This record gives sequence, structure tokens and C-alpha cells, in this order.
Amino acid sequence: MRKNIVAGNWKMNTTVPEGVALAKEVNEALKGATVNCDVIICTPFTHLVPVAQSIDSEVLGLGAENCADHEKGAYTGEVSAAMVASTGAQYVILGHSERRQYYGETAATLREKVALALANGLKPIFCIGEVLEEREAGKHFEVVGKQVEEGLFNLSAEDFGKIILAYEPVWAIGTGKTATADQAEEMHAFIRGTVEKKYGKAVAENTSILYGGSCKPSNAKELFAKPDVDGGLIGGASLKCGDFMGIVSAF
Ligand code: PGA
Repeated sequence: MRKNIVAGNWKMNTTVPEGVALAKEVNEALKGATVNCDVIICTPFTHLVPVAQSIDSEVLGLGAENCADHEKGAYTGEVSAAMVASTGAQYVILGHSERRQYYGETAATLREKVALALANGLKPIFCIGEVLEEREAGKHFEVVGKQVEEGLFNLSAEDFGKIILAYEPVWAIGTGKTATADQAEEMHAFIRGTVEKKYGKAVAENTSILYGGSCKPSNAKELFAKPDVDGGLIGGASLKCGDFMGIVSAF
């Protein structure tokens, strides 16, 4: 059966000492709690090594927020999937809407990144989601379906099985405006159906689909109770241990 997962996305927040302190706090809180899901934190590249050395990998997973679309070489300022894997991280967020929007990431770039992440043993947390105008125009299913197909449907069923999906309506990210549990469920069920058409029922049923966008302790329980919502990708609320644990304990 698919896993329930709560993953933090720290984005461009915290210095290294602050990040290490937060990671240790979350790690300790998890050790003292009954936890019914996998818990992951995704941190800036600079934090990966010291954070990996400060947490128990069986208790708390670790991921990067991006990786390069090339294997290695003359790409000044880029960080490769192999480099990320060599820090001890096990996951990488790919295709976050902020990467698509501000750094021009396209489906073609993302296919390269996904392939390199998988080749280096990283599990991609692949983000998809429509902007407000697309939802208002009734195009949200079309847009999200296309993002899944164009970014991932070149993969074999075996490789697709390593992908975690995160549906993040762009209008809900960092805005305090969460999708309703019914809106999330409707889209998650559509995504699972899209996966089923391509890879079959078993693969679709095993795919974890996380919701992201202003998820917080007060709304996590209702969202996670939906049959096709398998957890959350958490931005703002992952920066405070208490809030993050409040979301984790929604399972
Ligand atoms: P948010 O961000 O929880 O701050 O809305 C979610 C995300 O962008 O992953």
C-alpha cells in the first residue's frame, strides 16, 4: 500500500545553524511521538550535510529542494543529483511551482532532472498545480494532467513507482488560502486516475499524492482524511517544529 508522508519544504529560509537546530528539534520530537506516516524535511543545499549528520535517517528523511538538469561539468552554481545523494539525502523536490515560475523550468528540463535523480537513487517529490487563472477558466484538470504526462510519463512503470507526487495549487501556496478538502480530493482522484490509465491500477494505488498549499495543523486532519490525499508538502508551517508536528500528528 502507498505511504502516508508529511514533507517539509523549507524553501530559502534559515541559516545553517538555524536549520540544524530546527532539524534536531523535529528529530527529537518525532522520537518522542507516535508517528503514523513517513516524515521528511527538504532543506537548502548548504544545509544537507550538517543536517544529515544531526538526524536519525530512520526517524526523519532528508531531501533537497532542487537538483541540476545535467550530470556534471561546466555549470557554474549548479548542484547535481549525485552531489545531493552524496550528502546522505534520499529525496529531492522537483518542479516546484516557484522553480517553474521564477526559474523557467519546463517539462523538458524536469524530465532530465527526474532521470538524474532516479539514476542517483534519489526519490523525486514531483510538484504539479494550476495557477488561479487556470482554475477560474476551468482548465485545472487539463493543466495538471499535462504536467504529470509531460514530466513523468516517459518513465518505466518501475521508475514511476519511485515518484512521490505533490499537488500544489499555486493560488494556495503561501497565501493562507487552502484548497478545500473536497477540491484537493477531486484533483487527487483525477491525478490517480491519470496514472492508472498509463501504468495500471496497482501502480496508481501505490503512488503517494501529497497536498501542498497553506497546509497547517488546523486543516491537515480534514485534508488527510480524504481517500486520495496521502499527506502534505508543507512550506511555511514546516519552519516551526510545533506546527510541523501538529501536521504530522494529523495522521
Ligand atoms: P506553503 O508552501 O505551505 O507555505 O503554502 C507549500 C509549498 O510551496 O510547498
